[in-house]
Amino acid sequence: MYLNQHRAAHINAAVRLLRIGQVVSFPTETVYGLGGDARSTVALKRIFQLKGRPADHPLIVHLADATQLNEWARDIPAVAWTLAEHFWPGPLTLILKKAAGVLPLVTGGQDTIALRVPAHPLALELLHAFGSGLAAPSANRFGRVSPTCPEHVRDEFADKLPLVLDGGCCRVGVESTILSLVSDKPVLLRPGVISATELAEVLGCRPSPQDTTLAGIRAPGLLTSHYATRTPLQVINDPELWLRLKQLRTQGAHVAAMILGQPSLELRHPHHKHIITMPTEPQAYARGLYRVMRNLDCGNYDLLLVETPPQTEEWSAINNRLQRAATNKIMTGEIAYDR
Ligand code: TXA
Ligand code: MG
Repeated sequence: MYLNQHRAAHINAAVRLLRIGQVVSFPTETVYGLGGDARSTVALKRIFQLKGRPADHPLIVHLADATQLNEWARDIPAVAWTLAEHFWPGPLTLILKKAAGVLPLVTGGQDTIALRVPAHPLALELLHAFGSGLAAPSANRFGRVSPTCPEHVRDEFADKLPLVLDGGCCRVGVESTILSLVSDKPVLLRPGVISATELAEVLGCRPSPQDTTLAGIRAPGLLTSHYATRTPLQVINDPELWLRLKQLRTQGAHVAAMILGQPSLELRHPHHKHIITMPTEPQAYARGLYRVMRNLDCGNYDLLLVETPPQTEEWSAINNRLQRAATNKIMTGEIAYDR
């Protein structure tokens, strides 16, 4: 992180660029965003072009605080204000009915809009200085792993971006929880670190899981065919993982594994390098997940084996992202996410 003086200069430079329809990358507590003026068609087109994302795919509009909600959404239910009070700034995105005048490029032509107030000091400073909403998808090319450190953004876009605000590595590491408030019952569209149980405490009822049978809605999860890493990735239970690893290596395959916690002494043998030990605590795991996936993806492996994490709620965002990245995923029509 830089000195206040540099910080102010960078924020000013970012605001100047945003005012002329340019796109800049900024950190949030979850992942880095690729931000542009949500009221500018030029900026929005540039985001889609840089990301290589289909234009019917809606973006999240980031706000400095909840008081700006009325400028972007209409018929806001009381519960949205309560949720905003509890969780903003923070990793929760709310889907609401869009206000008149919101550009169709933001919402992918839908009648709803995704809004959130991020909990990162640089993002908030930028949003306050800019004074309006910033549309920002994760700052990665479509179908790739979200960036959680500034160097990931530079790797993705090289010199195509005029500015990457450097806020260090992201504290949360996986994308925000997305909750839709446009139908009778709240619907959880994407799991994140704010869990269904935490939401239920404020909502007074548990949000329903996404109904993927709904046709014509472009929500997270309807694109299941994109892989996060270029290297094939498989999620596999602990005992099978070691057998598979041994078997594949005997066949001469170059395989890396992400396991939970330290391997047994026997496996710490140098022969077993290319084994990454991941934290056994879900928040620490989430924080490192995308960085490890990106690093392994650069290792020229034939396959990445990932030990199945615990199947509990605290791990739901991680399990969701791993299933999305996996080439051996079981297509159950469950919630997934996109990039
Ligand atoms: O943590 C995050 O949410 C990060 C940071 C940068 O804020 N952003 C992020 O954006 O993950 P993106 O564009 O990669 O994912 C946004 C998700 C997409 O899956 C999109 O389908 C969904 O939000 N979304 C946006 N507008 C929607 C809407 N009106 N209805 C349903 N889903 C929507
Ligand atoms: Mg994304």
